[in-house]
Parts: sequence; C-alpha cells; structure tokens
Amino acid sequence: MTDLYSQAQSAAEYIRSKVSFRPEIAIILGSGLGNFASQVENPTIIPYADIPNFPQSTVVGHSGKLVLGTIAGIPIAVMQGRVHAYEGYSMAQVTFPTRVLALLGVQQLIVTNAAGGINTRYGQGAIVVISDHINLTGTNAALGTNDPRFGQRFFDMSAAYSPALRKLAIAEAGKQGWTLDEGVYLAVLGPSYETPAEIRAFRTLGADLVGMSTVHEVIVARHMGIEILGLSVVTNMAAGVLDEPINHEEVMEIGRRIEDQFTTLLTALIPQLAIQ
Ligand code: 6GU
Repeated sequence: MTDLYSQAQSAAEYIRSKVSFRPEIAIILGSGLGNFASQVENPTIIPYADIPNFPQSTVVGHSGKLVLGTIAGIPIAVMQGRVHAYEGYSMAQVTFPTRVLALLGVQQLIVTNAAGGINTRYGQGAIVVISDHINLTGTNAALGTNDPRFGQRFFDMSAAYSPALRKLAIAEAGKQGWTLDEGVYLAVLGPSYETPAEIRAFRTLGADLVGMSTVHEVIVARHMGIEILGLSVVTNMAAGVLDEPINHEEVMEIGRRIEDQFTTLLTALIPQLAIQ
C-alpha cells in the first residue's frame, strides 16, 4: 500500500507523460455541462480508466475523461465528469482528481455543478456564482492523518470561493448583458433529493442552492492552496419550491439548454483568471 500522496504523484506523472505543457487552470464539469470540454483546442483526451488510481464514475451523464489543451491560449485541464460520495466512493477517492490537478501545478480551479434552487429569486437555468458553502454531508475530505506535503492540518476556509474571481465573473456576465447572482451552496450526501421540510430548513440556514458535490473538492483544493471559482447551474427548483417533482433527466436537459451562455462566460473568464 502506497500513501495517498504517492498515488496522486503516480497519476500526475502519467498525465505529464501524455502532454508537453503544464495546465495552469483546471475545470471540473458538473452534470449536463460536459460538452464544454469540446472548447479545448489541440486536446489530449485521457480516459479516467487509463490514469493510475483515478476513480471511475457510474452515473449516466458523467463521461469520465480528462481533456488537456488550451482555451484562449491558456493551458488548461478539464475534467469531464466527477465521482460522487453517493456512488459509494470514499472521500479520498472523490477528491483524488483534485489532489492530482494540484500536483500538476494548477493554481486555479473552476468547479461547476448542477444544483437545486432554494432561493426563489432564481429561475430554472440560472447560472449562479458560489459565494460560500455549507457542508452538510456529514464528512470532510481532509479527514485522517494530515500529510504536510499537501497542506496544513488546520486550514482557513474564510475566503474559500475567491472574492477576486467572483468579482471577475460577475463583471464578465454584466459585459455579456446578463446578471450573475451569487449564492451559498449547501451540500448533502444524496442520492435522494431533499424533502420539502429539509429545503425549508436549509433556506433558514442561509442556503440558496443545494447539491451533492463540489464542497469536498473545494476543501481539498483549499488545503493545497488553490484558488476557487464555483459556478452552479440551477437545473430545477428544490423540493417544495414549485409544486412538481424533480427528475434527473430534467437536470441533464437544462444543462444542455444553457450550454451556450455557460460556454461563453467560461471562455471569456479563462484568460482573465490567468492574469490574476
Ligand atoms: Cl433539488 N438537490 C440536490 N441535492 N442536488 C441537485 C438538485 C437538488 N437538483 C440538481 N442537483
């Protein structure tokens, strides 16, 4: 048994052996947002299955490929698909790719997800920039013996979602003629969606969005000193907000519908992030 750091090093070495450049920015694409990977120029596509120790997704709509190349001339790594704790993966597995991206030298991470809207100001298909999170998954990805090669035992989460990057994203959306709202993302374990009573409770707690991903990746990224931009796509309103049930197909469909807006925003932001 090798330790987590060595396992992440092996994965990073494998990826390095496939490309001649070092990605500066990484993007993790959430449910229904995977097509953004087709924006990558001169792509090198590596199936997760080929990368040592990389976890494989079991969910429909999460394709499982790492795409390396450039966008607007910036070297980037795009994860098309992620694994979730509800699939039965350990926290170490869920956050393994984030550890590897950090070892590859990535300094900024754009995390994206499909989320339920708790805040009634949001409509279906809204893109929201995450201002902060509430981790109600009952676990923490940095649990266990701390390896100081990754980061410190105790680490700050007070500006986990970079204020500077949030400002850039809001300004860019404004330039493109639309308003990018900010919101607090609350994470649950899943896979069941919430009950209306849970959603009312979460609203009282200060949550605007609810989902089943992102917070663990953000915790690990902050452990390793990476700057974060988080974007949620409101694929549906959360339980009890509207008088209708929630289904996964709808979640995927909305992702496709806002694809152009999402792609235009991200593509414009990447070169601005790189000079931050
Ligand atoms: Cl309503 N809840 C959770 N937990 N995740 C979601 C969602 C709702 N809608 C999309 N993803």
